Parts: sequence; C-alpha cells; structure tokens
Amino acid sequence: MSSRILLKNCRFAEGQGSILIEDDKIIEVCYKETKARNVIDFDQVIDIKNKLVIPGMIDAHVHVRDMEQNNKETWKTASMAAFAGGVTTIIDMPNTIPATTNLKSLNTKREAAKKAKVNYKFHLGATENNLQELNEILKNNHSDIAGIKIFMAGSSSNEVVADENKIIEIFKLAKQYDKVVLVHSELQECLDNWQIIIEDKCIQNHDQLRNRECAIKGTELVLRLANEIGNKLYICHISTKEEIGLISKYKNKNIFCEVTPHHLTLEKSILDLVGNYGKVNPPLRTSEDNQVLWEAVVDGTIDCVGSDHAPHTIDEKSANYNDAPSGFPGLETTMPILITEFNERKIPIKKLVELTSTKPAEIFDFENRGEIKEGYFADLVVIDLENEFPIVAVLFQSKAKYSPFDGKIAKAQIDTVFVNGKKY
Ligand code: DOR
Ligand code: ZN
Ligand code: ZN
Repeated sequence: MSSRILLKNCRFAEGQGSILIEDDKIIEVCYKETKARNVIDFDQVIDIKNKLVIPGMIDAHVHVRDMEQNNKETWKTASMAAFAGGVTTIIDMPNTIPATTNLKSLNTKREAAKKAKVNYKFHLGATENNLQELNEILKNNHSDIAGIKIFMAGSSSNEVVADENKIIEIFKLAKQYDKVVLVHSELQECLDNWQIIIEDKCIQNHDQLRNRECAIKGTELVLRLANEIGNKLYICHISTKEEIGLISKYKNKNIFCEVTPHHLTLEKSILDLVGNYGKVNPPLRTSEDNQVLWEAVVDGTIDCVGSDHAPHTIDEKSANYNDAPSGFPGLETTMPILITEFNERKIPIKKLVELTSTKPAEIFDFENRGEIKEGYFADLVVIDLENEFPIVAVLFQSKAKYSPFDGKIAKAQIDTVFVNGKKY
C-alpha cells in the first residue's frame, strides 16, 4: 500500500501552492493559479502555513569523519546535523582515517555510512601513486562515487598531490569515467615559502601564512590544465577576488566552482573574537573578497555553495594556533545564514536553490533530485522566515559544538525536513 501526504499552503521560491507526495516521490505540484488535478485522496494533510518550501540542500563538501575519528563525528550525528540544517544529501570527503584512496578503505567507509539517514555519495581521494587503485574502483560499480578529490596542500589528515604530471594523469582518468575532479587548490610549496616569510605565527596572521597568492596560483594551474585536458573540474571553496577573475576567464561547461558561507560572509578581523574556532583552510580573507564573491554568486560565476562541514573536537580547537586543526562544522548553519543573507540582499531565493540543490544535483549526477518537480524524490525543507533566532553552537546536533557563527542572528529557521518522502 502506498501512502500519500499532501503539503498544503506552501510558499515556493516562486509562487504558492501544494505538493502531493506518494511514498518517496513528488507526484504532483499545484500552484494556486492552476487547478488541482488529481489531488483527491491522501492519508495525511500537513498545513505548511505559508512557510517557505524548497528542495533540501545537496551539500557536495562534507567531512563526515567517523571510523577512526568517530570522536569528531559519525554518519549518525552528521545526519542529525544535516536535518537540523535543511540538508538532505551529503557527499563525503576522502581525507578520513582510513583515507578513501583504495577499494578496501572505500568498503570500510561504505559500511560506516550505512548509519546515514540522509542520501549520500563519496568522493575518492587521489594521491601521487594510487591511480591504479582509483581505476580499479571506477571500472567496476561506481554509482556511489561522485568525484575524485585532490588536495594540493596539506590541511587535515590528507595526502598532497604536488606533481603537475600526476595532476594531469588524474584529470585524464577522471575524464575517462566522466567523473568530476574536486580540488583544494592552495599550493603547498607556496605555503611553505610564506611560513618562512611571516615570522609571527598566530591566528591573526593565518591569512598571511596561508597567503592568497597560494590559492590564486593553484587555481590558475588547475584551470589551465583542465582547459587543456577537457575534464570536469570543480574548484572547492574559492576565497579570493583574483580567483573569481581567473574562473570567469576560463569558465566553460566543464568548469565549476564552489563558495562556502564563511568565505562569503566572514572576514579575518573576526578572528580577534573567535580565535582558532575561525581557523579554516583556505583562510577567511577580506571584506573586499566577500563583496566580489557575492557578485560572482549573483552573476553565475559561482555554481554551488558547499558547507565544508569540518568537525574537530573543542579540545583540539583550544590548542595553540600551530597545533589547532583547521575547520568547523557547517551543516547546521549554512542554510539559515544563506537564506537570511539572500533576503537581506534581495537576491531571489530561486538563485539560492540553484546553488544549493539544482546545480550540485546536476554536477554530481543525482538523478531526479534538486528540484520540486513531479517525478522527483521528495527531498524538501520547510523554513520559517517569521522568527529570528540566534545560532547556538552548544545546541548543535554535530559533535563539534562550536562555530565562528555562534551568536549570529538568523531570520530563517529550519522547521521540517523530508528525505525521500519521510518526515524528520
Ligand atoms: O579547514 C579545513 N578543514 N580545510 C580543509 O581543506 C580540510 C578540512 C578538514 O578536513 O578538517
Ligand atoms: Zn579544502
Ligand atoms: Zn573541506
């Protein structure tokens, strides 16, 4: 027996109306203007009371951890954090312990991910010598693999790919299997130089130590190589205005890029207040960079928003600057912060849906997800825009209960989430 739920009085990104869900799919979307067609019988009616209903976020940039780092986060706690933040699909990054760089570790991760409540896929990790292993995985069943990740610099338990020839080989392999290559594009050699130049190692100098020059040069290199090879390239967490200039120059149907909520809305001066909680790679930059990133969101140069959810323990983050790991949780803050900002900046919510759902579904091959449409999976988030609420990190579902956004007032509260038609 199939079950039908009618969501009535929904406010969409554009227009108002109702959604009929049957089991895991949307079977009808009615706008007020159009006459309801088949909506006659259902098991349950939920009055959405004119709250905003958009597709759940598909977050292509999540560090779930688990396995040997299950003290930082697990698939269970990441799923709860995702629901609290309006995220219904996550793609997990490979810099786990063990790292997702061969079939054995991939299978270990597949086992851990069975605890997930959200939809998910994995990114494989490239190293300078695992091409064979990647090939082995990709030539068999790879429907749960979204992309191949390259770290061009050390950041958090990851192997660095520095050799240009290796990058070329990885790009060619990805092209062969039509997989996207995701790049953390800071250049290690450049970072090492700046470590020598900047003597004072402190959080206020994080942006100098991991100098913008290194992100710009790395982004330029991968754009040039991908342009020659013709593989799909996804540049993670763009942080500088210069990279936006480069991407505009090279952009074509195979070149994509991502921004995080923190690189859009925070600048380095906040580090005086939040210390290592705001330590992240690439670092927080300047208000001028924020501004240019916003322009790139509006003009379509940026394709996706990713949270870069990167949980660590409070103990680790409380160490001195050099020892504290980079990254902070983002699953619970991304949608509330973005919706608040989009409304304040009067950017249509339709644009947000494109960045958080439609484009990531397209780029990473999630069939019938990322839009509110008949025949699509019922992955939905209901958002209350009437109430203001502060972000309170100690109340996070994530195990990582800290955030540089702690205390910020959001005007978008996640009310309900549906994943494959199931209400959470
Ligand atoms: O700040 C970061 N944290 N940047 C990365 O590239 C890795 C991430 C992590 O895994 O903690
Ligand atoms: Zn990264
Ligand atoms: Zn990351």
